[in-house]
Amino acid sequence: MSKPPRLQADQLSKSYTSGPFTIQVLNQVHLSLQPREMVAIVGASGAGKTTLLQVLGTLDQADSGSLTFEGKELSGKSERELAAHRNSNIGFIFQFHHLLPEFTALENIMMPGLIHGMEHGRLEARAQEFLHRIQLDHRSHHRSGELSGGEQQRVALARALIMEPALLLADEPTGNLDSTSGKMVFSLLRELSDAMGLSVIMVTHNLQLARRLDRCLTLADGSLK
Ligand SMILES: Nc1ncnc2c1ncn2[C@@H]1O[C@H](COP(=O)(O)OP(=O)(O)OP(=O)(O)O)[C@@H](O)[C@H]1O
Ligand SMILES: [Mg+2]
Repeated sequence: MSKPPRLQADQLSKSYTSGPFTIQVLNQVHLSLQPREMVAIVGASGAGKTTLLQVLGTLDQADSGSLTFEGKELSGKSERELAAHRNSNIGFIFQFHHLLPEFTALENIMMPGLIHGMEHGRLEARAQEFLHRIQLDHRSHHRSGELSGGEQQRVALARALIMEPALLLADEPTGNLDSTSGKMVFSLLRELSDAMGLSVIMVTHNLQLARRLDRCLTLADGSLK
């Protein structure tokens, strides 16, 4: 039997109500993502890209539709089960990366492992390796609040990947990066997807980058095209 997709969304819909207005942000979205696949999502500001990533990552709930991860249905699961799913399977890079400014670059990268109770020495070694891969060895003891915007984005990338998730959901991960760092991010993701089967959904306004991924989908009028 063939393997189920890494992530499959069917007829996902979501609206927001604000006073007398209802906005239909997602309207019967369908998406099927395979292991190792890297998909870009583009679309106008306000089209619903962040909302879609939050729903796909179970940080937010759709009003209707189905979402499965490796063949298992996620809608209807308890908040506790969803938190466990996110911890073991998903790495997030948020649009406004949410690093802890008082902690160093190294500590920020280690944070998911600390939450997981990983052994400290092993975790620190792995975090150092990621710092090296994102070319920030020389900034390991800088507080993240003292890093440039692009450096912070690279730290957020390393933090999202340190637990070796099966799925990376990245919201504008290269917005503050120059083209060399943008290419570095792309190469690192491609390498990880080849090596460990990482699947990636990346929201980006960078069309050059979007075209280099396996597929580029546009979110418009609430659905993916
Ligand atoms: N919590 C909320 N309550 C009400 N409306 C919301 C909420 N969050 C988002 N929206 C609305 O939903 C729409 C989609 O927002 P979303 O943040 O998903 O857009 P986006 O495509 O990520 O935009 P950008 O490219 O600017 O980041 C917007 O019109 C926004 O105003
Ligand atoms: Mg957004």
